[in-house]
Amino acid sequence: MQYKSMWIFAAGLVGVIVLLFYLQSPPATPGSGPAMASVIVPELSVAEKAGEEKYIANCAACHGVNGAGQEGVAPPFMHRIYAPNHHADGAFFAAVQNGVRAHHWTFGDMPAMPGVSQRDVAEIVTYIRALQRANNI
Ligand code: HEC
Repeated sequence: MQYKSMWIFAAGLVGVIVLLFYLQSPPATPGSGPAMASVIVPELSVAEKAGEEKYIANCAACHGVNGAGQEGVAPPFMHRIYAPNHHADGAFFAAVQNGVRAHHWTFGDMPAMPGVSQRDVAEIVTYIRALQRANNI
């Protein structure tokens, strides 16, 4: 009898481990991969250039140069999923403040970025929207 309950316990344990494995997608990590979009880069205003600098410093290691994304790392912002009517500016502030659970892609979770201020995000969004406009997104 005791032997049997031990087996039930072991089976339960295996179940829990498998479940945890499924629930826990590994976090995305900066890296390099081929660009996922070809991007037309417009003439940038002073404000947009400031946003570009912040973007390069904080986001490009995952989301790629010019928001083109990187295969195997993170998605491109030059994609209709991130158009203003799909991911409004608030989504960018939330992503940086809270991180993002992987849901649209299989890259893993985006970590929260406490070192990036809400003001930085505002500049980054200005830059990304300028790129999107130039690329009909
Ligand atoms: C460590 C890699 C990494 C870094 C650095 C990173 N991201 Fe992300 N980000 C991701 C991944 C991966 C996703 C896709 C999650 C999904 O939907 O599957 C994502 C998704 C997003 C989204 C979509 C959120 C949503 O609601 O679907 C926004 C907006 C975003 N990132 C903004 C930024 C900004 C702005 C920066 C720089 C300040 C940044 N990210 C830096 C990996 C990263």
